[in-house]
Amino acid sequence: MKNTLQNVIASRRSVFPSQYNKEAVTEEEIKTMLEAANWAPTHRRTEPWRFKVLRGDAKTELGSFLAATYKEKTEKFSEMKYKKISEKMTQSAAVIAICLQRDEKASVPEWEEVAAVAMAVQNMWLVAHEMKIGGYWSSPSFISEMHHFFNFNEGERCLGFFYLGKYDETVAPGTRNSSSEDKTTWL
Ligand SMILES: Cc1cc2nc3c(=O)[nH]c(=O)nc-3n(C[C@H](O)[C@H](O)[C@H](O)COP(=O)(O)O)c2cc1C
Repeated sequence: MKNTLQNVIASRRSVFPSQYNKEAVTEEEIKTMLEAANWAPTHRRTEPWRFKVLRGDAKTELGSFLAATYKEKTEKFSEMKYKKISEKMTQSAAVIAICLQRDEKASVPEWEEVAAVAMAVQNMWLVAHEMKIGGYWSSPSFISEMHHFFNFNEGERCLGFFYLGKYDETVAPGTRNSSSEDKTTWL
């Protein structure tokens, strides 16, 4: 029998906006997620994760920006995809921009900071899952355009968006292409 933490880890899934119901996610719940994120480990204690929580009008504006950027930049425009970008915002209770802040001295290689941000996201995702909040990390191709939307600090950039919302339906069990044993060498 697996212990509770293992169960939470193994049952966490990517839950997409089309699966969310209209139930609100409270500020308290989002703060609980962000508090968990803040306990991620970091080399040299740079704590590079930055989050921008978008709700209400800000969320709608982000949808309009992403849709317009898609229309402007894509080489293979699809009307359906264009509409879906704004629709995802409407379906989500909130969207959290996942950002990375480099420290002035660039104390550690950037990959370590990306790794630390990803660990923060995993913490947040697991806690969300425990609170029955679904979410997923979206990494749109035009993420490098986000400086036109956010007022970034020097050395700050976005790595993606965490869409979130409550959901009723049962989420399909997860799958992995190979077992942990297949990915491990014991020496
Ligand atoms: C860094 C990162 C970026 C991701 N980007 C996307 C994305 O752009 N679109 C998407 O549908 N899923 C994205 N995902 C979610 C993965 O597709 C998902 O985690 C994977 O299919 C495993 O499913 P699970 O999360 O339910 O275990 C991303 C996940 C990570 C960690």
